[in-house]
Amino acid sequence: MLYSEKVMDHFRNPRNVGEIEDADGIGEVGNAKCGDIMKMYIKVRDNVIVDVKFNTFGCGSAIATSSMATEMIMGKPVEEALQLSNKAVVEALDGLPAHKLHCSVLAEEAVKAAVKDYYDRNGIAYDPELFREGECPHCHE
Ligand code: FES
Repeated sequence: MLYSEKVMDHFRNPRNVGEIEDADGIGEVGNAKCGDIMKMYIKVRDNVIVDVKFNTFGCGSAIATSSMATEMIMGKPVEEALQLSNKAVVEALDGLPAHKLHCSVLAEEAVKAAVKDYYDRNGIAYDPELFREGECPHCHE
């Protein structure tokens, strides 16, 4: 089977879809490979992500990875959310077909962009290296 049950579940019933009106950080990123876009909103209290929502004009795999990513960073300190890799999200979904791996990059980048926005808004210093634009670790594009 092409997609794991977890991918199908998160695709059919995506968690945390929508937007947060008074978000503390908003990240919007585009996928260089396919042009799809993703918007991620986070609400932060005492350095902990207390709410997260996403909206995407992306494919099913992008929806599934973002949904899983929101579950993985909910309730976590922002620094921990920054550590979330697309690889970890894909593993949590029991894998994605190789040609869909690039879709998972969108979720990771959107989380990072939302945290960066949160840092910027609050004048919190950070190492810019953390937000260096990476290439897709799988397809190197
Ligand atoms: Fe664009 Fe999946 S094809 S995010």
